[in-house]
Amino acid sequence: MHLPQGPVTYKYVEVGKTLYQALSTRTPRFPSRVGYVMLKTLFEDRQDAITLYDPFCGNGVILCTAYLLFSERIKTLMGSDIEPVVLETAQRNLQWMRDPNAFKERLRAIQTYKTQNDDLKVQYQERCRLMFNHAQQIHLDVELFQHDATQIHKALAAIDGEVAVVTDPPYAHNDHWQSQDGLEAADFGTLEPFLQQVAKAPNVASLLICYRLDQPILPLLKTYFAVTPLDGTKGRAIYRCQRR
Ligand SMILES: C[S@@+](CC[C@H](N)C(=O)[O-])C[C@H]1O[C@@H](n2cnc3c(N)ncnc32)[C@H](O)[C@@H]1O
Repeated sequence: MHLPQGPVTYKYVEVGKTLYQALSTRTPRFPSRVGYVMLKTLFEDRQDAITLYDPFCGNGVILCTAYLLFSERIKTLMGSDIEPVVLETAQRNLQWMRDPNAFKERLRAIQTYKTQNDDLKVQYQERCRLMFNHAQQIHLDVELFQHDATQIHKALAAIDGEVAVVTDPPYAHNDHWQSQDGLEAADFGTLEPFLQQVAKAPNVASLLICYRLDQPILPLLKTYFAVTPLDGTKGRAIYRCQRR
């Protein structure tokens, strides 16, 4: 069996494998590569440390990737979600990397995975061990809280200093798609008040957002921001949005 070896990479951050997954159908598994690309882009562009906030944090893939791989560039790591069960999962995911008892519990939980393939379980456990060992060198404050992102101006106003928002918001539901004059339009519901408030918040230095490639959000983003489309990945487009 080929066991994984350090250094830790974003590929280790996998919901349902190394990470806990919330029992919520509305929070799909998010590929850490997308979060990694957004974070790398953010930190290529700025030298000084900044508060990082994911207001649709789900299981916490972006937060865990940021914690493991970019901690030196972050002042405080913040995450929120409207769903308590999802938030609790993000909390557990950040917890097991730091707390030896929670780590042991994580290893036991992987042992109970339904697969008969014991080699796979050993591989996930070994990845967890590398992540845990790596995390022992990290000293970064993490704040998680329940929050409705349609009220994000309140959360942003409570942050001291500049903040970068890096996020994977809910996608327009397929049922909301409609055809108008041959054009498809999506209901971006939650997103519009969110974007409006982020665009107005004086302390948001940058917004990096990903969205499903088949859901054309660019016109909406351009209503509020100067937008740079970046190279997407894993079926998602990535946009850097800056205040005009
Ligand atoms: C696409 S998922 C994000 C998945 C996440 N990247 C992860 O690592 O699991 C979108 C998240 O937005 C949350 N959400 C939906 N409406 C929200 C709202 N009004 N405020 C905050 N979070 C919301 C959902 O609970 C869901 O977890």
